[in-house]
Parts: sequence; C-alpha cells; structure tokens
Amino acid sequence: MKLNNTTKIKFKPAGQLEETRFEKIHNVVFNNSNEASITVAHEIAKLIKDKAKENKPCVLGLATGSSPIRIYEELIRLHKEEGLSFSNVISFNLDEYWSMQSDNLQSYHYFMHEYLFDHIDILPENIHVPDGTVQPDEVNQYCIDYDLKIKSYGGLDFQLLGIGRTGHIGFNEPGSHYNSGTRSITLNHITREDAAPAFLGIKNVPRRAITMGISTIKSAKRIILLGWGANKATVLQKTIEGEITSQIPATYLQNHQNTTFVLDEEASSELTRIKTPWLVTSCVWNDELKKKAIFWLCEKQQKPILKLTDKDFNDNGMSNLLASEGRAYDLNIKIFNALQHTITGWPGGKPNADDSHRPERATPIKKRVIIFSPHPDDDVISMGGTFDRLVEQGHEVHIVYQTSGNIAVSDEEALKFAEVTKSLQIKDLVIDKIINDIKKKTPNQIDTKETRHLKGKIRRAESLAATRFLGLPDKNVHFLDLPFYETGTVKKKNLSDQDITIVKNIIQKIQPHQIYAAGDLADPHGTHKVCLDAIFAAIDVLKPEKFMNNCWVWLYRGAWYEWESHEIDMVVPMSPDQVLKKRLAIFYHQSQKDGVMFQGDDAREFWVRAEDRNRETAKKYHDLGMADYAAMEAFKRYYF
Ligand code: F6R
Repeated sequence: MKLNNTTKIKFKPAGQLEETRFEKIHNVVFNNSNEASITVAHEIAKLIKDKAKENKPCVLGLATGSSPIRIYEELIRLHKEEGLSFSNVISFNLDEYWSMQSDNLQSYHYFMHEYLFDHIDILPENIHVPDGTVQPDEVNQYCIDYDLKIKSYGGLDFQLLGIGRTGHIGFNEPGSHYNSGTRSITLNHITREDAAPAFLGIKNVPRRAITMGISTIKSAKRIILLGWGANKATVLQKTIEGEITSQIPATYLQNHQNTTFVLDEEASSELTRIKTPWLVTSCVWNDELKKKAIFWLCEKQQKPILKLTDKDFNDNGMSNLLASEGRAYDLNIKIFNALQHTITGWPGGKPNADDSHRPERATPIKKRVIIFSPHPDDDVISMGGTFDRLVEQGHEVHIVYQTSGNIAVSDEEALKFAEVTKSLQIKDLVIDKIINDIKKKTPNQIDTKETRHLKGKIRRAESLAATRFLGLPDKNVHFLDLPFYETGTVKKKNLSDQDITIVKNIIQKIQPHQIYAAGDLADPHGTHKVCLDAIFAAIDVLKPEKFMNNCWVWLYRGAWYEWESHEIDMVVPMSPDQVLKKRLAIFYHQSQKDGVMFQGDDAREFWVRAEDRNRETAKKYHDLGMADYAAMEAFKRYYF
C-alpha cells in the first residue's frame, strides 16, 4: 500500500528495516511519538492549506484519547505562530460516550474543545461531535443522519484514528461488522477498564457510546492510525500482520488503500521485522542484537545458551551470524559470559574486588545513591530488594518521591484517617471540612485542596513506614510534590521548568554516584514518563558539573513491564527471605492494597505483580543457563 502521492509529506522511519512480507498495512516507525505527531500534524496542515487554495472545505475525521493530543498541540501552534487557518475545516468526531452531557469533563465534546477547538479558528457550526444526550428512541435516526451529513460534505478527506487494546477503532469493538455505519454500541470491558482512571473508577465509566461505523471510517480518502507505547504493541502486531477478523476491527483497514499506521518504537516492538529481524532479512549484528537473537533462539529451542548448536542457528535465520562469529561454541560462550556478568549481589559495587567484569564500580566503596520514585511506592515495588541491599551494604541511600500520589488514595481511605483524627477531639475546622467535602462529593468531582492534602499526607506516612522498615533514616527521605502532578485529576499539567529545577536541585545537593529512576518509556502521558523526562532534563543541565562524571544512572521498570533479557545491564538476585522482606515493605503502602483506584488491566495486587515479575526474571536467567535464584530485579544503564 502506498502513501497518497498528493500528501508529499515524507515519513522518515527510525532507521529500522522497511516493511516486510509479513505486513499487510503500510506503517512507519518513528524514534518517539513526539516526532511522529509533528509529522502527522504537518500532513493535516498541508491538506487543509491545499483544500483552501482550491476554495474547498477540508473534511476531517478526528479522534480523542491520549494518542492525538500532541498532534492537536502542534496544530494549535501552527495556527498561532504560522497562521494556519481552520476556517475551511469541517470536523466530524469519531465517537462520544452515551449518555453524556457535553459539559461533563469526561465527555469527548469537552475534550475536543479543551485540546483543539477552543484554540483555533474553526467555525462552531462546522464542528460535529456525536451528541451524547440524544434520546434512546431517536438514536438510530440520529446516527443515520450523522453519516448522511458526512456524505453531504463529500465524505471525509482525512480520518485520524487511535487504536484500543481490543483492536477497536472509534468505538467499534470486537464483533463489529465491516460495513457498519454510525450507531450506538456497548463498550468492551477492557475499554472501560482503560477509561477507568480518567473516570476515577470503572463504576463511573459509561457502558455505551455512539461511534462512527467501520464503513464510515473506511470511506475516508486518507487514514492515519496512531500507535504509541508498549501496551499497544501486541494488538498492532495482530492488526498489521494477522488475518482480517471482526475480533480485531482495526484489521479491516488492511482493505483500505490509503492508510498509514504511524508508530513509535515501543508500539512497533512486536512486529516481526523489529522483534526478530533475522527471520526476514540478513542483519547487521551488533552486541545487543546478538544477545536478543540468541535469547530468542534459546526460548524457541527450549535450550540454555551453552547447548545451542550450529544447526539451531542455521535453521532459524542466523547463519550469517554464525558465519561472522565462527562456531556456535565460541559465540555461545561469549554471550553466556556477557549474561553472567550482569548478575551481582553488590548493586553499589563490590568493595576491593576486581570490577572489570562487574556491572558497577568498586570505588568509591561507600556511594551516595538517589532512588527516584515517581509515586510513593515505586521504590519498593520495583526495586525493594536492591534498595535493601544498598542500605545493608552501607551506602548513603536517599529516596526521592517525585509526586504526592494523592489522587490514588480512595475517599474511603481518606475518610478513615479524617474520622480518626476527629475522634481525638482536636478542634480542627479543616478536618470537619474534609469530612464534609468527601461525604458531599459527586462522581467525577475533583477533590478539594484540603482533601488532596490529606491524601498526600497518607501516602507520605506510608512511605516513611516502608523506608524505616528498610532501615533508612527519615532525613534521607525526600518528598518533591512536583507541581505538574497537582491537578487533582488523572490529566496532569505539562512538565515545567519549575519541576525540572526541583529535580535538579536535589541531585545537585546530594551529588550522587548512582541514580536509580523509573525507566518507563511506554506511555507518553503517564506520570512515570513525565517524571523520567524531568530527571533527564535535570541531568542534561547538570552534565557539565564535575560530580556528574562519577554518576551512573540505572533505570528500573515500573509495576507493569520488565526489561527484555537482552536489554538488562545489571540484575540483582534475591533470596527467599529478601523476597519476603520486600513484600512486607510493599505492605506498608496500605492505601494501595486491596482494590486500589488505579489497578489497570491486571487484577493482581502490586506485591503479587512484583513477586511474579522478579520470579519470572530469575526463571528466564535460569532457562538461559544461569544459576537458579528465587527472584531478580533488573536494571538498564542510561548513558548521558
Ligand atoms: C477515540 C476513540 C478510540 C481511541 C482508542 C485509543 O475517539 O475512538 O478508538 O482512539 O481507544 O485511545 P488512546 O489514544 O487513549 O490510547
């Protein structure tokens, strides 16, 4: 499939291979979603201008959700700074919850105005978002009219899409028919779970919606689907490489002649050409690719590294690797050693030991260490075992909690603390106010400042209980309460200089030899990513300072994913006792136990996820031929 020649915008892939025979939809992979979004915005802008030159309207199909936000920001910039006019644009949005008042903060109507329409010169009468208030007996006719209206403008010139983890486009959930028109539908449970954080709980997420149909979408002359982040990788692989099926409605786009999927690296990670390039072409082998291929081969052949044979390599597209390296025997030993050298029980470096094959330096023997934790519990969930070892091995460990984490405390939990405080009969009007505010709160209402303050304090107290349990003095625990987080809603402010300065100041004050940070690159709008961006920006400013020459940065992953084995530069094994100790540390975060507010799509509690994940990492190492440990925490080094 080809790009529309009239668009002229060049999509520049991020250095990966071109599409392969496995792929049935044209797709382009960018280094990151920011670069990709700017390119897409410029294609839209060009279309609007071309149409304007011809004195024609430009009919745009628009999407909501997290994926298109950066595109809308760039379009607004083009309008404000480069005079792009939207006066010839007619817009039709894909969908709206039903029933839903248009002034509800969660409505797509509200979203579109907030993120785009209020900042550009589109004429209000040219905006169409399905009406979430339409009466049940009128909804059928309303939907037919929506499609007719699109047709009356000559059809959609361009349709922007995101993709749900169910494979939905618009709200065409699994089971949708390829020739469906605009209609009311029932939302899939996974989709409702994904929307739950924004609605502060799944119980508040509507069950129904109005959506453009598959045939409505497919009638667009040009379609771009956006895919960002690792949690879209599986569905994108199935959509791009699988058979057309109503169970993954996005696969219907395989039949559309002018569709491009625009992906970031994480979202593309399951595509055959990215995941196992040796199966589709002859590769240029660097060390990381060698490891990746060999670990994959071990899994496929169910063999540890040292048992792989020449035949295993040749049968699985790796004959040119063998040709350049000699025998399987030599290659196996090389990779085996490299993997073994990532294992250490001394995350801060082993004193007085030869460190030439260890992940960390032996000196200085006592290191200053900062562990950044985006929320007040990521430290113990993601690296509780390593944290414990660093303290035990005498390093000066500082825990830095980046955000207050207040929105993740439930009203019931906050009320419990407020009522206990009140029962002490301390005369405090603030407590009365908090109790009143929580009791009067309606669904989706933002907490008052006082309630948020209490919720933040609850998380602080829990964090201190956990850090004390792991032997850390309170003076080494720092709470940054970064301003970008303090909105009281899931939607956060953009990272500001103020946030970066706060992070920079603490690094400068402690002058660490090691920084640990949550390396969650997946979700472009998630708190972890913003917290990481703040650290990277601060490091960038501090780079010229002398102490930074001795500072190594280690990235751990948050609660959801682990590094792939070939990405790991250091693993810290844990004994069964250490696993238990880590579990107890996590337990101190009581407000995040037993049915937490932001559970995600994984029903396991955080401590269970952490243990499963650490056990799996250890098992993977064992399967590759390493010693059999109970659990392991993994880190990747970040070079600046
Ligand atoms: C939005 C829409 C949905 C989203 C999809 C992905 O109007 O129709 O199909 O595009 O759920 O959502 P995000 O972008 O939030 O991952």
